[in-house]
Amino acid sequence: MVAVRCHRSRLDPRNPARHHRPKVGGPVTALPTSIDAVESLLSGQGYVASRALATVVFLSLKLGRPLFLEGEAGTGKTEIAKTLATALGRRLIRLQCYEGLDAASAVAEWNFAAQMIAIRAAEATDRDHLKAELFTEDYLIARPLLEAMRPQPGGAPVLLIDEIDRTDEPFEAFLLEALSDFQVTIPELGTIRAPEPPIVILTSNRTREVHDALKRRCLYHWVDYPSFDRELDILHSRAPEAQAQLSREIVAFVQKLRREDLFKRPGVAETIDWAKCLLALDVIALSPEVISDTLGAILKYQDDIQKLQGSEAKRLLDEVKRELVPA
Ligand SMILES: Nc1ncnc2c1ncn2[C@@H]1O[C@H](COP(=O)(O)OP(=O)(O)OP(=O)(O)O)[C@@H](O)[C@H]1O
Ligand SMILES: [Mg+2]
Repeated sequence: MVAVRCHRSRLDPRNPARHHRPKVGGPVTALPTSIDAVESLLSGQGYVASRALATVVFLSLKLGRPLFLEGEAGTGKTEIAKTLATALGRRLIRLQCYEGLDAASAVAEWNFAAQMIAIRAAEATDRDHLKAELFTEDYLIARPLLEAMRPQPGGAPVLLIDEIDRTDEPFEAFLLEALSDFQVTIPELGTIRAPEPPIVILTSNRTREVHDALKRRCLYHWVDYPSFDRELDILHSRAPEAQAQLSREIVAFVQKLRREDLFKRPGVAETIDWAKCLLALDVIALSPEVISDTLGAILKYQDDIQKLQGSEAKRLLDEVKRELVPA
């Protein structure tokens, strides 16, 4: 094993010149100073937030606390991180969680291939010097958590830790250090602390409970399905081509569907997808036949589709048409 020497200064976050500087999309925007400002910042990017979500986003930005978003699939949890990054002109760094994710894949890995090449190349020369070089930043592949601790152009990045419920508990425990002190430790290099805490958003679909210790470090918000009016606003923002009456029928139908006994209820993402499918088919009003033919855009399980095909779809549609006052 090659001897390890600590070259912390080479990874010093106060020395940004050493780091790769990725490009950030838009112009840098100052952090919003009120809940209203958060709402308009998000709506400027087409994201329609509830007052409760805008409030918790505002607090998270103001207090520098990670934001933990839990909720049903397709309700805009991931999108909020993307929207914030774009709206604030910050870099988005995404850590997609999965079962078996470990610290090396989340923080940094040694570039063994490059180290081997260096060892070979230096066989005849100064080996002692090489030992000192091998465990420096030059041979380190930074993964999302380390990247998020580094200074970025335009200010601290938005760190999205997506679908945390897919990871195991040991990884959660490891995240505690990163999120408590905004620092990560690489045994061979030492501890790297973010000069400015990243804006952290964690999401979970609640396939399992995330540990209290992690939640305690975050502000929490349950992202529910939107109300009729807010879903209509979202649809208007994401599929503005849809006629007002068709949009209302689509939203009303999906909202009714969510009250049915389904294996998997449709999220906002499905509402938008469905609207786009109907537009592509030049549909101007819902009918039982159209619904039957396009159910695959909103329901993703055969049992659910079977349940809705035929008379059930017609029953729901009749209710929708009865209840909707023409726009
Ligand atoms: N409030 C909203 N405003 C605007 N668009 C929204 C909103 N909520 C959801 N969407 C749209 O729905 C799509 C799905 O959102 P997103 O991927 O963020 O859902 P999610 O909650 O992360 O779902 P999953 O749990 O499946 O990952 C996005 O592409 C976005 O366009
Ligand atoms: Mg998501």
